[in-house]
Amino acid sequence: MTDQSPVTDAPTSPVKTLPDAQTVTEVRHWTERLFSFRVTRPQSLRFRSGEFVMIGLLGDNGKPLLRAYSIASPSWDEELEFYSIKVPDGPLTSKLQHIQPGEQIILRPKPVGTLVLDALLPGKRIWFLATGTGIAPFASLMRDPETYEKYEQVVMMHTCRTVAELEYGRQLVAALRDDPLIGEMVEGKLLYYPTTTREESPHMGRITDNLTSGKVLADLGLPPIDPATDRAMVCGSLAFNLDVKAVLEGFGLREGANSDPQEYVVEKAFVGDGI
Ligand code: FAD
Ligand code: A2P
Repeated sequence: MTDQSPVTDAPTSPVKTLPDAQTVTEVRHWTERLFSFRVTRPQSLRFRSGEFVMIGLLGDNGKPLLRAYSIASPSWDEELEFYSIKVPDGPLTSKLQHIQPGEQIILRPKPVGTLVLDALLPGKRIWFLATGTGIAPFASLMRDPETYEKYEQVVMMHTCRTVAELEYGRQLVAALRDDPLIGEMVEGKLLYYPTTTREESPHMGRITDNLTSGKVLADLGLPPIDPATDRAMVCGSLAFNLDVKAVLEGFGLREGANSDPQEYVVEKAFVGDGI
């Protein structure tokens, strides 16, 4: 085939720039299975705290290898933060876990998701219920002043197998309380309830058990969950989400969506094997 390119074409650049490229500014490894990183934010990207985007790297075949990721930073932040699992043989995270500041990732700037404040009817108290990396959307919502404008109390329940897996959330809450801007707003309103299930820690047990037994209410001095006042957002594995849904429905809460705000909303933290 003859080359039809006009002779005025610029020569191919030796520097390969990814489509929708953003530059990594910071990487922190929390455990062998968990890390977080920050990237530059496209100027045009507007999102609601709690939403997710598609991010990734170029695969070996030269095509983008993309996965859904909750934006862990709040909508006012100049950069974007992500909190990630490391799946040893995972197509994306086996590579992504090695990224370094200065390198690039692909970010498709089309945020979507159900874990947004607009998907809930007004209420008095909001429950953020997460396991593992499911805390990511709440890392965004906990840092958003709008959350505290809309709710008198914000209860963050995060459950992991071990204490080390809670550390990202623990440091985030501590930093929030010390923050000169939002610290005062959060004071007395943000109730943090981390628990472990397979290692000794001050509070133990699954979120479902601590809700149904009323232990979390007793520990935090809260009244029973009531559909008139309480709202919830859920983010974990499919099994976790289904079990929490049943618990919330038992308290009389109904599932909502962007188009139909109700008392609780759910999003998968990941798509499990065979699901
Ligand atoms: P994949 O082939 O995608 O996954 C391989 C297997 O690893 C899965 O079948 C599952 O068993 C397990 N797995 C995948 N992700 C997780 C996880 N997060 N926690 C525990 N086990 C997992 N992942 C994040 O790390 N952070 C996020 O903020 C995040 N947000 C998401 C939001 C949505 C709406 C959805 C649907 C998924 C989200 N994920 C998130 C999962 C993410 O899209 C990828 O699955 C993950 O990055 C692993 O990619 P991979 O290509 O390495 O492996
Ligand atoms: P457990 O240790 O009792 O299984 P994982 O690491 O498997 O993704 O789980 C993260 C956390 O979520 C663990 O503490 C685990 O508790 C808890 N968990 C897993 N499945 C459920 C569920 N269906 N309901 C409530 N908690 C769950």
